[in-house]
Amino acid sequence: MNTADQLPKDIRGENYAGAATCVKCHQDIASNYAHNNHGLTSAPVTAQSLAKLLKADENGFMFNDHMKVMIEQSDSGIYQVGYYQGKAVRNQKFDVIFGSGEKAFTYAYWKGKKLYELPLSYFSTIGNWANSPGFPSNEMYFDRAITSRCLACHTSYIQSNSSQRAGTQVDEEMERGSIIYGIDCERCHGPAKQHVVFHLENPEEKKAQYITVFKELSRKQQMDACGTCHSGNDLMVQKSIFGFQPGDQLEDYFVQDFVSFGGANPDVHGNQTAMLKGSNCFRKSKDMTCQSCHSTHESIKGNLSAYSQRCISCHQSTKHSQATLAKGPLVRNCIDCHMPKEASRLISFQMAGKDQPNPYLLRSHRIGIYGK
Ligand code: HEC
Ligand code: HEC
Ligand code: HEC
Ligand code: HEC
Ligand code: HEC
Ligand code: HEC
Ligand code: HEC
Repeated sequence: MNTADQLPKDIRGENYAGAATCVKCHQDIASNYAHNNHGLTSAPVTAQSLAKLLKADENGFMFNDHMKVMIEQSDSGIYQVGYYQGKAVRNQKFDVIFGSGEKAFTYAYWKGKKLYELPLSYFSTIGNWANSPGFPSNEMYFDRAITSRCLACHTSYIQSNSSQRAGTQVDEEMERGSIIYGIDCERCHGPAKQHVVFHLENPEEKKAQYITVFKELSRKQQMDACGTCHSGNDLMVQKSIFGFQPGDQLEDYFVQDFVSFGGANPDVHGNQTAMLKGSNCFRKSKDMTCQSCHSTHESIKGNLSAYSQRCISCHQSTKHSQATLAKGPLVRNCIDCHMPKEASRLISFQMAGKDQPNPYLLRSHRIGIYGK
């Protein structure tokens, strides 16, 4: 049998090798990656993953005196159960998790070949359940269809009958068993079977073959590779981004119109690309990309002094006024002043018994001078 035939089959096609195959030669990357947000951004729901979020007593959300959704366990699984006037009127099982949970988990259930979002999500900032983002605050809603558009940013694959116009049809049917959870190696690097076969057959070769080298791509190509999922979700898709490979152009996947690529008023949620492009750091430097600050295999989330070193690599000297300097040593944290957290206009969530929605905070990628 030849080398290619010995590799496991991958549902995406002949050119794919699957993430398990990469581990053999890229052990460090694979093990870091297993714990980072891209890898963890979707998964099947298990009793263990939910158990961590459940309190001993009651779990759920009161919409008002007559209406609540509770989380309840039975022999057949864990469900979100809707109550009206004390009577259970609707129940649906937890099937799929979206989100690494750094900020939130949203859940979905399967009905035949269709996927629907559950009414309650878990928000890490409050450590509690609340109505899902964008859902009505006075109604328990179980019927919001999730299309493959959502999975195209949060998984590595799903087979769908409308993959050419992914996410634009609510009557879309998807194959449950075909999901590849998480964003895997080949989602960002493109199909790599030929690369694997070559290096298995030529172990003495230390230079990468048959794989796109990010550093050799133009700045636009590098920005587009991240921009497939980080350019907001209001773009009109013309071709499913599951097929996007590094080196491709975003214009070939999205319809261009006047709001395309954040030309209008980008939101901090999901649109880091347009925010960054609006910064002088990006506009006046030739080589800034997402990689200037992020190395996607290891997460340095929360380590603001490590991120500040990335700023200092371009800004060895800065001109700050006495008033700014008096606020404390600059070097440890450039981030809170120049990339402040901002509330998303698109997402907020309601807490039980409160009128005001809670803000959903994200780092602004429009690097600039704030609060002056
Ligand atoms: C049989 C060994 C082997 C396997 C299996 C393997 N690679 Fe590689 N890969 C290499 C070697 C050797 C290099 C070159 C040295 C290096 O960069 O680590 C490389 C380099 C790379 C690079 C870097 C390209 C650049 O920027 O220079 C990427 C990306 C990559 N591999 C992706 C993958 C993916 C994705 C998989 C799994 C589908 C995979 N590799 C499986 C051997 C392998
Ligand atoms: C979210 C996108 C993304 C995912 C997922 C991803 N990579 Fe990468 N990878 C990149 C980027 C971007 C670079 C280029 C980094 C640079 O230029 O500094 C890279 C570089 C590499 C390199 C070159 C060496 C290095 O560390 O820079 C290898 C090897 C590699 N990736 C393998 C993998 C493997 C194996 C997986 C899965 C376990 C994986 N990548 C998952 C985006 C990704
Ligand atoms: C296939 C879609 C997709 C691609 C391609 C992608 N991302 Fe992401 N990225 C996501 C999603 C979804 C999340 C949210 C993960 C979660 O659930 O927390 C995320 C989260 C992140 C985060 C925050 C978490 C962390 O690890 O600090 C960073 C930074 C990030 N992406 C950078 C990049 C960069 C840089 C690239 C290009 C090399 C890239 N992403 C490519 C979908 C993608
Ligand atoms: C265009 C790509 C895109 C689409 C479509 C998309 N998301 Fe996201 N999502 C992201 C990115 C990027 C992030 C992380 C950074 C941010 O919020 O800007 C994210 C964050 C999240 C988070 C929070 C993760 C965490 O813990 O920080 C959840 C939950 C989530 N998305 C669920 C969904 C669901 C459910 C859908 C479909 C109904 C969806 N997303 C559609 C790109 C997308
Ligand atoms: C790739 C190099 C590079 C990196 C990395 C970088 N910058 Fe910049 N930044 C620039 C350039 C170039 C300018 C424009 C300078 C000018 O106008 O002369 C700039 C401008 C600025 C300005 C002035 C903004 C304005 O609107 O006038 C601030 C503030 C700033 N950077 C802060 C930061 C911070 C904080 C970081 C880290 C989060 C950072 N920069 C990372 C290259 C960079
Ligand atoms: C000048 C540095 C810099 C550049 C360039 C940069 N980021 Fe970030 N990014 C950061 C910092 C700092 C954070 C906050 C990290 C933290 O809070 O721990 C962050 C956070 C994020 C997050 C998480 C959002 C949140 O609020 O939790 C995502 C997603 C992300 N970046 C994606 C990208 C993408 C995609 C690009 C390229 C379009 C990019 N970043 C370019 C510095 C940068
Ligand atoms: C306490 C908030 C704060 C911190 C911390 C801070 N800055 Fe600033 N920065 C400002 C303000 C405000 C200005 C506008 C000038 C002034 O009033 O000091 C500024 C101006 C700048 C400028 C434009 C002026 C110039 O030097 O060209 C750059 C670049 C800059 N900061 C980079 C950085 C970097 C890099 C760090 C981290 C080492 C940092 N800043 C830390 C608040 C801050």
